[in-house]
Amino acid sequence: MTDLCRIFAEQIQTRLNGFTPDIALILGSGLGHIAERIENPVIIKYTDIKDFPQSGVRGHQGQFVAGTLSGKKVLCMQGRIHLYEGHAPQIIRDIIHAFKLLGITKLFVTNAAGALNPELTPGTIMLICDHINLSFANPLIGANDDTLGPRFPDMSNAYDKNLRNLALRIADEYNIPIKQGVYLMVSGPNFETAAEVRAFGILGGDAVGMSTVPEVIAANHAGLAVLGFSVITNLGTGLQQQSLSHTETLAAAGKAADKLSQLLLHIFERL
Ligand code: HPA
Repeated sequence: MTDLCRIFAEQIQTRLNGFTPDIALILGSGLGHIAERIENPVIIKYTDIKDFPQSGVRGHQGQFVAGTLSGKKVLCMQGRIHLYEGHAPQIIRDIIHAFKLLGITKLFVTNAAGALNPELTPGTIMLICDHINLSFANPLIGANDDTLGPRFPDMSNAYDKNLRNLALRIADEYNIPIKQGVYLMVSGPNFETAAEVRAFGILGGDAVGMSTVPEVIAANHAGLAVLGFSVITNLGTGLQQQSLSHTETLAAAGKAADKLSQLLLHIFERL
């Protein structure tokens, strides 16, 4: 394990003051408000953690919020680290491995994404069932620490089947409409060309975005069970926008974010 990983874990642990989170939750663009539901919150700003990468994206707050959600002990990243900001993918590995050192066993991830599959209209919540890594980056490149995970980690259950089944059951029970799909990651920061959107759809992607995959690869390496959701904010470039105006699209995404928060709270209840 790298020094940075150990340093991150130690600094977070000191500030948690004996609190031992079981679940890490990484919140995507526009989805940060679920952190406001965390009870007895302890806030740790990224700027207060030595050598921690800073997230400079608008709508991302740049802090950990630790506490309980539906009675479960969570450590939430309100603001994620993106490759397009210039961060090395290995720093994302170090953060996830620090979670492992803190005793965390599950990683929940959310993101905003564009649709490659036109059936995923803006405002859809997509349960991520698998991913395609087209970022041309990998957080595990470099020396492997065999105490944290294997050199060649298996990705056949990258998004944990039991957690996915639980999410589907609960969504059904509470009448929260969700679809399932494959998340395809690009590095960004530019949005896709229309030709790329067509190509990515043919490759098997349902939604495209600029995050999540590095965290999920590192989590699988370290043996954390992963559950992931995308909120579809727009149709990919060149796909026919049905009759939604931009304002309606934003409103749909906002409503979907609220529904996703409710769904997550119900899932936490049942863990
Ligand atoms: N492409 C990539 N990332 C995104 C998009 C998109 O269309 N929408 C939200 N994040």
